[in-house]
Amino acid sequence: MCSAGAPRPAPLWLGPVRACAKVSSVHVGILGGTGPLGRGLAVRLAAAGLTVTVGSRDAGRAREIAAGIASAWPDRTLRVQGAANAEAAACDLVVMATPWDAADPTVRAVAGELEGTVVVSVANALVKQGRELHALVPARGSVAAVVQAAAPGALVAAACHHLPASTLADLDVPLDADVLVCSDHLEATTATMELLGRIEGLRPLDAGSLASAGPVEAFTAVLVTLNLRYKAHATLRLGGL
Ligand SMILES: NC(=O)c1ccc[n+]([C@@H]2O[C@H](COP(=O)([O-])OP(=O)(O)OC[C@H]3O[C@@H](n4cnc5c(N)ncnc54)[C@H](OP(=O)(O)O)[C@@H]3O)[C@@H](O)[C@H]2O)c1
Repeated sequence: MCSAGAPRPAPLWLGPVRACAKVSSVHVGILGGTGPLGRGLAVRLAAAGLTVTVGSRDAGRAREIAAGIASAWPDRTLRVQGAANAEAAACDLVVMATPWDAADPTVRAVAGELEGTVVVSVANALVKQGRELHALVPARGSVAAVVQAAAPGALVAAACHHLPASTLADLDVPLDADVLVCSDHLEATTATMELLGRIEGLRPLDAGSLASAGPVEAFTAVLVTLNLRYKAHATLRLGGL
């Protein structure tokens, strides 16, 4: 378990040579990890051999969700545990998986724990209008930029916006997706790509600085609209790379 307030060791992925060997020992915490996206990521990361703490406003609920994940896959050894968001924020790498409009208060409340930590923002600011999803423009242009402003000492990356939670959550369904990763911090891009590269079927791609997070997040509205129209679970796959 990650413990809030404890001194944090240097990030394990520092240095190109050490990185690949060490990412397997990274403990991932997920703020708002009890939702479909957090649960789906927890399952895939744990299946890749990582330890995951599902965070919540209610530690008891998080523990129930974590126990449910482990018991859903009895043939696998999934290291998933539940805790309050503050404990999830004290992990080696943190995923921010609340709804977009809860990102600022959630991250602000644990900003002290996030100093020097890579924080992966997966949130999309979307609103449903009939049978379409429309993208909203959050303050600062993207949810990821809001997260960075709420925790200025964190190393924020944006990623995973186009991955359907239902597909992530089912280990029997193979993944086949590109994941666009944006950050203003090289270390955050590297760590996020190494982490996601551990999940079979995902190809992480460096999509540039956090300035690209807004368009990446907004494109999710188009993708979800396509999925509604075609009754599909399509995700992103780029040709020619
Ligand atoms: N669903 C997808 O397929 C998908 C795909 C890609 C990206 N995303 C993005 O990933 C994020 C999570 O998606 P989701 O579908 O899992 O969302 P969700 O179920 O609506 O929310 C996730 C968790 O956030 C916490 N939460 C909800 N309201 C909150 C509030 N006002 N303040 C603090 N915490 C709150 C809840 O956990 P507790 O009640 O336990 O605290 C909830 O279980 C979203 O931003 C979404 O845009 C989703």
